[in-house]
Amino acid sequence: MFEKLFEPIQIGSITVKNRTVMAPMTTLYGGADGQVTEQAIEYYGARARGGTGMIIVEGIYISPLGLQIPCSMTVRDDKFVPGLASLADSIRRNGAVSVMQLIHSGVQAWVTQTVGPSEVGRIVGKPISTELPPKALTIAEIEGIVEEFGMAAFRAMMGGWDMIQVHGTHGYLIHQFLSPLTNKRTDKYGQDRDLFVLQVIEKIREKCGPNYPIIYRLNGDEALGDSRLKGGISLEDAKKTAKRLEDAGVDAFDVTGGQDDCIDQYVPSAYVLRDREGWFFHLSSEIKKVVNVPIISGGGIEAPEAAEKALNDGLTDMVFLGRQLIADADWAIKAHEDRPEDIRPCVYCLHCGNRILTLKPVNCTVNPLAGYEFRQMTEENFLPAKTKKRILVVGAGPGGMECARVASQRGHQVVLVDKNDRVGGTVNIAIIPDFKHKYRKWIGWYDVQMKKLGIDLRLKTEADSALLQEVDPDIVVMATGSKPLVGTIKGIENTVLADDVLLGRAQTGQTVAIIGLGLVGAETALFLAEQGKKITVLEELAAPPILMDLGGIALLKPGEGLFAKHGVEVLLGTKVQEISANEIVTVEQDGEKRMKIDTVIDAIGRESVLPEDLLANSIERGKKVFTLGDAKAPRKIKDAVEEAFMLASQL
Ligand SMILES: Cc1cc2nc3c(=O)[nH]c(=O)nc-3n(C[C@H](O)[C@H](O)[C@H](O)COP(=O)(O)OP(=O)(O)OC[C@H]3O[C@@H](n4cnc5c(N)ncnc54)[C@H](O)[C@@H]3O)c2cc1C
Ligand SMILES: Cc1cc2nc3c(=O)[nH]c(=O)nc-3n(C[C@H](O)[C@H](O)[C@H](O)COP(=O)(O)O)c2cc1C
Ligand code: SF4
Repeated sequence: MFEKLFEPIQIGSITVKNRTVMAPMTTLYGGADGQVTEQAIEYYGARARGGTGMIIVEGIYISPLGLQIPCSMTVRDDKFVPGLASLADSIRRNGAVSVMQLIHSGVQAWVTQTVGPSEVGRIVGKPISTELPPKALTIAEIEGIVEEFGMAAFRAMMGGWDMIQVHGTHGYLIHQFLSPLTNKRTDKYGQDRDLFVLQVIEKIREKCGPNYPIIYRLNGDEALGDSRLKGGISLEDAKKTAKRLEDAGVDAFDVTGGQDDCIDQYVPSAYVLRDREGWFFHLSSEIKKVVNVPIISGGGIEAPEAAEKALNDGLTDMVFLGRQLIADADWAIKAHEDRPEDIRPCVYCLHCGNRILTLKPVNCTVNPLAGYEFRQMTEENFLPAKTKKRILVVGAGPGGMECARVASQRGHQVVLVDKNDRVGGTVNIAIIPDFKHKYRKWIGWYDVQMKKLGIDLRLKTEADSALLQEVDPDIVVMATGSKPLVGTIKGIENTVLADDVLLGRAQTGQTVAIIGLGLVGAETALFLAEQGKKITVLEELAAPPILMDLGGIALLKPGEGLFAKHGVEVLLGTKVQEISANEIVTVEQDGEKRMKIDTVIDAIGRESVLPEDLLANSIERGKKVFTLGDAKAPRKIKDAVEEAFMLASQL
């Protein structure tokens, strides 16, 4: 069915077995000194085993001053070659082509004194690691970095890597030389902004010979619609650079856009992506017109149908998958075997990105194995249960479904019940706004998997003593979730619950105040603001935890991103004292304030639901009882899925 996607393709001297490419994605699985670890070897090996044609391993930094972020892997010295060779072996042994992405981070490096073409740092944001302005490189220093790129490529070749990719986009050093925003030099490197990268490619050819394939990751549009980056690399600039690089010996182009000041556009979350797949194809299709070597591109690709269509429409020659391959290492096999319904969809929440930006190794909301392949068996090789048991799982939210799925896969007999008429639990409320539609497909995936496994799913069934008696399980799993916490503020009866607003059970007026800037409050604000309502969010804390989230949710921050776009006002450090029919009284630093408002929404938090009778009854009857997910403590999907996976793989 996906014929084009599984056609081989030639890049330089190497044949790639199909058109699927894993996009480079920093993992923080490296050692503190930049060594390769078992974690990295198994993580990438699993994605190669999953049928991906080509694995482009994350930015591997080429010199100490080029460090992207702590625990990145490096190729800055010969002593790293054996570890890197093991990583290439793992990819090769599992059937994919290995590509090492070479990066020098320039002004974005995680060092005290950064370097760049000019003394120009980030255009909008600030680097996290240093307060010092960047230092402009001297000509001798530039020549030194060119040499370092050459040596890095040579070490990659020596270590058995099939190809290298030169990272020329997303605001790192090469991009900084190419961009009119950051290259203010008046010498030859400013007069010809392509010169630095041309010298890098020339040096790699000199060190690695004419046949070693070089892929170049190209920036096709620096601003991606962000007006603050106007005047950056344009598509016309990119076309010219691409032609010159092709002449210099580049064997393929991987086309993206953006830079760190518009990271929400180049690694778009569900809030930005909505239902679009192939975020960069409008750029790759234009670059394809001016060069004669293969083009790789993608962005938000989740369905094989979208990948196949892009290839057939001639928008690209290969399709990269980033986050979707974190969410499901076996994407390519499942597409090849024509069972796309088995692909676990990425929900584009950007939890993975947030992990990195807060210095934690990548893991995933929907795939509990991502990053733990070195510790646990793969899903195909789950250890069958030693003793087959009868398990009653109460609650078909993410936690209950994951528990039922894995326990059933291991051979247990599972009965899964939910009092609701559908599976998905609280996620059924979360997915009402359009910007959460990626989660709908994910819930659908569970539905299909449970049917395939023949799980005894009983909807509209409240777990009670009679059911306990009928099922007579050995184990009871309480995955009963949470419900909204009703505040104790004076006049709380004049509010409506966020859940009811999302579910359409409560109507709101034109002016709305939302109490609480947690995820639910923030998303309800966006949901209503998109309908043209005037929203004010009132948050008692001066620095609520949501502000720490640098991933997708970063777009829902006071005065920024989507809140700025839709005029959502956020009042931090503002305690609501009293609510009446059309008025709200708050206490702020400068005293008491009154605000006329049509509707007040209570989004202050959630509390666990744990049917005490059922619990007591189960214990009385000698059943083993486990509690997981929000029933344990209201948190997030990741917690529920991970706890369920860990429990079910050990039962
Ligand atoms: C508006 C909103 C948006 C959210 N967005 C996100 C997000 O973007 N990312 C994220 O990570 N998290 C999000 N969350 C939180 C997330 O939905 C929960 O953390 C997650 O659903 C918890 O899963 P769970 O399986 O533990 O429980 P739940 O999803 O709550 O499922 C519990 C299930 O148990 C059933 N049940 C309860 N008692 C019984 C009984 N006695 N008998 C039978 N069935 C019973 C319920 O009907 C329900 O279906 C959001 C929550 C809300 C409200
Ligand atoms: C966690 C994470 C880390 C990333 N690290 C890199 C990187 O090291 N080098 C790079 O060129 N792009 C990096 N990217 C961008 C991806 O390669 C890709 O272009 C982007 O995620 C869009 O593709 P997707 O929607 O399929 O994920 C990263 C993206 C994510 C989510
Ligand atoms: S953490 Fe979220 S965005 Fe990242 S791969 Fe997993 S589901 Fe996708």
